[in-house]
Amino acid sequence: MPRFTTSHIRALLLAVALVAALAALPSPTPAQDFPPDVVRGKAVYQRHCLSCHGAGGWGDGPDAAALRVPPANFHRFKSFLKSDEELLRTIEHGIVFSPMHSWQGQLSETERQDALAYIRLLVQQGR
Ligand code: HEC
Repeated sequence: MPRFTTSHIRALLLAVALVAALAALPSPTPAQDFPPDVVRGKAVYQRHCLSCHGAGGWGDGPDAAALRVPPANFHRFKSFLKSDEELLRTIEHGIVFSPMHSWQGQLSETERQDALAYIRLLVQQGR
């Protein structure tokens, strides 16, 4: 049997403290990173949504004039008072008989949430 000296015990205590400290650290990044990322959202928006909804979200994108059903103007009360869930549902499933189709297959859930976060940011900005 090896004899324990004070320095052994000190080293042991240090090791225990280290393990305890590591256990107290926040757990690694969860699978779905939340809050949504507006920088990524901006890229998604500019690539897929801007053509109809416009750079500022006013519903005045370059393709808007040609549409029978005008794109939503996100600055309207009617639009921005809706909950995230409701707007995400629209982005996910689209609106029947309108040019707003479902983005389910084309964008991941994270990308849809990021795009909405960017829309929320646009709405906070004036003209
Ligand atoms: C082809 C044109 C078009 C494109 C592209 C488009 N939208 Fe739309 N969007 C519309 C139209 C039209 C509506 C319906 C407006 C209405 O019902 O009055 C709409 C409605 C919405 C609504 C619902 C607003 C509300 O008040 O309920 C959201 C949210 C939305 N779009 C997000 C997006 C996002 C995010 C993208 C890109 C991933 C996108 N749209 C791309 C045309 C488009």
